[in-house]
Amino acid sequence: MATDLQAVIFDLDGVITNTAEYHFLAWKKLANELRIPFSKECNEELKGISRMESLEKILACGGRKYDFSESEKMSLAAKKNEHYQRLIEEITPRDILPGIQAFISAIKRASLKLGVASASKNALTVLNALALQSEFDCIVDAKEIKNGKPHPEIFLEAAKLLNVDPAGCIGIEDSQAGIKAIKAAGMYAVAIGEKDVFGNADLVVTTTAELSFEYIKKCYDMKLQNSDK
Ligand code: BG6
Ligand code: MG
Repeated sequence: MATDLQAVIFDLDGVITNTAEYHFLAWKKLANELRIPFSKECNEELKGISRMESLEKILACGGRKYDFSESEKMSLAAKKNEHYQRLIEEITPRDILPGIQAFISAIKRASLKLGVASASKNALTVLNALALQSEFDCIVDAKEIKNGKPHPEIFLEAAKLLNVDPAGCIGIEDSQAGIKAIKAAGMYAVAIGEKDVFGNADLVVTTTAELSFEYIKKCYDMKLQNSDK
């Protein structure tokens, strides 16, 4: 890290809105239909990773890893997506998580660029429903990348589209895979969640309501100064 702050890149699910819960509910419904046990703990491992990888993990957790052909797995993933799309039909701008609007406004006032890097193929639908799509200078979703989080590709692609140095970016995430991806991209990582879960993040806040741009910028600048020494 050796450059002034240029951009902030957001994960979507669980950061801008609580769709992490909808993903959980949709997987839970599928798991129930398959009579596979599926808990909130197992769900934590699915945050930030792709639909197919999530399905593989759920089947493995439930001891059904080898019970389905590739085409059956595609159908199961499509079914989960149907459950999920039904849930997100209800999303409105009221579902933007606390603190996010003010955080976005503060970033804009500071004339920094804003991006979204989401592993979800439903990202544009969700951002539209939240009426937030036009707030971002770039939106990169799972359709545009080869490697999912924790690979850094999605964050690097966002930095490229924003025309900024990855070292001048802050990434915001609620998943371990996402924080790993941000760090691997050479960015400053802010995690939303419990401190003990995100030991590798540069900064951890418990909820989005605590996202203060002034405070995060101060922490970023301090790290920058220390890395210059
Ligand atoms: C991520 C979520 O943003 O997107 C994961 O954290 C989800 O839980 C993944 O599985 C893929 O989403 P979708 O909408 O393409 O199935
Ligand atoms: Mg997330």
